Amino acid sequence: MKVGVVGASGYTGGALLNLLFSHPEVEIEMVTSRQYQGKLVSDLHPNFRKFSKIKFENLELSKAGNCDFIFLAVPHKSAMHIVPGLLETGVKVIDLSADFRLKSLEDYEKYYGEHTCPELFKKAAYGLPELHRDEIKKAEIIACCGCMATSSVLALAPLVKAGIINTEHIICDAMMGSSGGGKKFTLASHHPERYGVIRPYKAVGHRHTAEINQELSLIANKKITVGFSAHAVNIVRGLSTTNHVYLLKPLEDKDIWKLYRDFYKNEPFIRLIKQKKGIYRLPDPKVLIGSNYCDIGFMLDQDISRLVAISALDNLVKGAAGLAVQSFNIINGFEETKGLEFPGFHPI
Ligand SMILES: NC(=O)c1ccc[n+]([C@@H]2O[C@H](COP(=O)([O-])OP(=O)(O)OC[C@H]3O[C@@H](n4cnc5c(N)ncnc54)[C@H](OP(=O)(O)O)[C@@H]3O)[C@@H](O)[C@H]2O)c1
Repeated sequence: MKVGVVGASGYTGGALLNLLFSHPEVEIEMVTSRQYQGKLVSDLHPNFRKFSKIKFENLELSKAGNCDFIFLAVPHKSAMHIVPGLLETGVKVIDLSADFRLKSLEDYEKYYGEHTCPELFKKAAYGLPELHRDEIKKAEIIACCGCMATSSVLALAPLVKAGIINTEHIICDAMMGSSGGGKKFTLASHHPERYGVIRPYKAVGHRHTAEINQELSLIANKKITVGFSAHAVNIVRGLSTTNHVYLLKPLEDKDIWKLYRDFYKNEPFIRLIKQKKGIYRLPDPKVLIGSNYCDIGFMLDQDISRLVAISALDNLVKGAAGLAVQSFNIINGFEETKGLEFPGFHPI
């Protein structure tokens, strides 16, 4: 398969190249950057020194048309200007931005503002393989889900599906590493201001709330609105969400285990984590860096019927590039784990 990566100079672009270079079914035809055309990818991504001699170029639709797939790793509100032209060339688009994730224009406008081509929403599948595998196979645009939304939705989907929780009181707390903000820096990401923080940078109104609501509502077949808060924490890669829900009737650990096991029994990238001993008793992004796994665990707080569902992943892999490659594998009928077998490092 001939592929191109647009926005390859950024963090998710680099994470995509990392996976695609080693993917046995992929030939990288084109990597684009507006600022760095003519420069080696290793000038921007030093991990590719001696590994690849490929250079950035400008995005040309005629060249993009020679590809089978284009991965788009550009900011939201930029992707919507690039996707229509790409589709006209006949390529399939795997978009990492938020521009085609939401089904409702009203929701898009509420969280992101104006959209220039909402008519394309119907051509897009929400790129979360665990929930939308069949749609991904047929769609022209794969709208890979947001990294924090991926974590919360995967933790909560089995509980919502089983109808065991009060869907009016769902609270998701996300802890996010600094690479989640992309490579463009601001005062908030400046080292003296970012280092050492636990900063609730979006206690309410985070954009990923819209996706979580959309996906959980689809599962429940009724409108669900969650409370979502995002915190910047002192790591570069990785994120964790702690999702608080209340049980409708008393349940035990083994009941919840069974429910998660049944829901995810055939999923290659979901690991259920709940050990009695050890320091990694519950999911921790520290052991997921570089891998496409999402680890999910839970604790029951019987005193107040609270279930705390915890989920962790690498924002640049299972939260972005890995998700994209997983969808690419699904569409092409490749083994879903192809190019994604890396288990992560320990210790790191
Ligand atoms: N970072 C994460 O953890 C994460 C996780 C999931 C999804 N995402 C999404 O993935 C996308 C990329 O995120 P990122 O973190 O990789 O961002 P990034 O590090 O800022 O990289 C984005 C790249 O897109 C290019 N770009 C910027 N504006 C553009 C425009 N108007 N037209 C064309 N290209 C443009 C830039 O390259 P040049 O200036 O060199 O052209 C830039 O290097 C975003 O939509 C983000 O929301 C990010």
